[in-house]
Amino acid sequence: MIRVGVLASGSGSNLQAIVDAARDGRIDATVAVVICNVPGARALERARVAGIPTELLPSKGVPDRDAYDREVVARLRAHRVDLVCLAGWMRIVTPAFLEAFAPSPASHGCPRVMNVHPALLPSFPGLHAQRQALDYGVRFTGCTVHFVDSGTDTGPVIVQAAVPVLPGDDEPALSARILVEEHRVYPLAVQWFAEGRLALDGRRVSLRDAAAPMMDGVLNPSQDR
Ligand code: GAR
Repeated sequence: MIRVGVLASGSGSNLQAIVDAARDGRIDATVAVVICNVPGARALERARVAGIPTELLPSKGVPDRDAYDREVVARLRAHRVDLVCLAGWMRIVTPAFLEAFAPSPASHGCPRVMNVHPALLPSFPGLHAQRQALDYGVRFTGCTVHFVDSGTDTGPVIVQAAVPVLPGDDEPALSARILVEEHRVYPLAVQWFAEGRLALDGRRVSLRDAAAPMMDGVLNPSQDR
């Protein structure tokens, strides 16, 4: 059973997906602490309802990123966290943070910080990924769970799920469709980490004993009748 620390800034629906998966025994993990940087964020309430310890560390107006992240790391260590899951954490983590959760023998050489992003990286990194996808006119977007490195959404990809962009989509509709997949793949990635099935070679992540992919190719829009 691994101990997960979740960092969230907003609604916390990905936090909820991980909490639910842990509660239902779908992942060999327990959420040891939720750290939030935004007072009043729904993620805090979700954690309280689930009986998970919370730490509120407001970041607004805090100029020293290194000092802020040192405090976050100290709280994560106090809760003996094995894996850090960024779940709508709207901050870039500092190199010292990543160093604190660098690969270890216990993590089978994998970094110990993951993130979920609402696009098929490397497309549409950064803010407003769903809007970027709509503006570009892609037929598919999706979500990515990746290990975190010092760039913005540039770390090694663990798992991705594709989501079609449909006629008439606006940002909320597309975001909601992507979130369904985020909630599916983030707990999966946590479970693979917990099972020690992930390995990192360069920037390629492999999964031991993976099942065959579910689809060979999908067209969107579909071929004419
Ligand atoms: C999710 O869509 C997540 O992928 C995104 O923020 C949302 C948080 O929702 N993260 C990023 O854009 C990070 N670059 P949640 O608080 O309901 O989990």
